[in-house]
Amino acid sequence: MIYQPSENRYVDMIYRRCGKSGIKLPAISLGLWHNFGGVDAFENFRKIIWKAFDAGITHFDLANNYGPPPGSAEENFGRILKMDFQSHRDEMIISTKAGWDMWPGPYGDFGSRKYLIASLDQSLKRMKLDYVDIFYSHRPDPFTALDETMGALASSVNAGKAIYTGISSYESGRTQQAADLLKSYNTPCLIHQPKYSMFERWVEDGLMDVLDDNGIGCIAFSPLAQGLLTDKYLNGIPEDSRAAKATGFLQLNEVTTERIEKVKKLNIIAQNRNQSLAQMAIAWLLKDERVTSVLVGASNVNQLLNNITSLANLKFLPDELHQIEKILKG
Ligand SMILES: NC(=O)c1ccc[n+]([C@@H]2O[C@H](COP(=O)([O-])OP(=O)(O)OC[C@H]3O[C@@H](n4cnc5c(N)ncnc54)[C@H](OP(=O)(O)O)[C@@H]3O)[C@@H](O)[C@H]2O)c1
Repeated sequence: MIYQPSENRYVDMIYRRCGKSGIKLPAISLGLWHNFGGVDAFENFRKIIWKAFDAGITHFDLANNYGPPPGSAEENFGRILKMDFQSHRDEMIISTKAGWDMWPGPYGDFGSRKYLIASLDQSLKRMKLDYVDIFYSHRPDPFTALDETMGALASSVNAGKAIYTGISSYESGRTQQAADLLKSYNTPCLIHQPKYSMFERWVEDGLMDVLDDNGIGCIAFSPLAQGLLTDKYLNGIPEDSRAAKATGFLQLNEVTTERIEKVKKLNIIAQNRNQSLAQMAIAWLLKDERVTSVLVGASNVNQLLNNITSLANLKFLPDELHQIEKILKG
């Protein structure tokens, strides 16, 4: 099938400036952690990428290890870029990362210069790209000096293999140190990628302020708590859900009765707002203008379209926020 991108792709999407940089990101970005690997159906995820681009989603987030098997999401994405997006590369922000376990031995994990630089070369080969737009340190490394890891990010930019640097899951103190180092190398940190959702709020405890002070953008990952913050698990665990799949990172023991009780109450508030729970969970993150983008996953086109519709209502009444807070803290 030949893909022809929608001419209206930039009409409805909201774009937010990423910190104080020159880059704007779509308020909703697409992540390829699950559902785009070698074990998944090619034509299904190819259509998800088409629909995303048609809706103005310009940012696609990958990492060296996404699959399974590790590396296969980058390979698949590279294939789709070649088949369908050859003349649209400059309309896209493509990111990748290194930091988690990728290859055997002491050089395929964490934050050494050796690992990051070798891994980015592998990622570029898999995606058949000359450069990525953002290269991230995927996680802090307690055993490697921060200037080695940040130096490797800076070198990648200087070598023309990445345009911007980013960090993921760094706590606020380390984020400040990383930001200072990257500034001193003239490759300022563009963006931080933390886990952030109604169920995971550590970023509110200082990180958002550090990002704001340093002009760094924020892209929230797992905004739906891997699907928990949707109507998916209201009546048990569907067979096709991430929690039920052997390759899914959402463990069955994370779908607790206590959480589902909260989800049921949140679902009622969402219904009163004429939104799905997924839409409300995304809007709840985007109500903070410092959140540049919400990085969703999707296992089919309908989920993605449902999530994008959240942009139609990002406003909350004080009473709604109060009720949500009561449920989350209850
Ligand atoms: N930096 C890091 O360390 C890190 C870690 C994790 C993720 N990430 C990034 O963040 C991205 C998103 O993470 P995530 O996939 O956990 O995000 P998420 O949006 O919290 O969860 C996505 C999953 O929720 C379900 N879902 C999505 N929309 C739905 C809807 N409208 N109705 C019902 N169910 C819906 C689907 O699960 P089913 O498969 O059950 O249908 C989907 O695969 C990743 O792809 C990756 O790019 C980064």
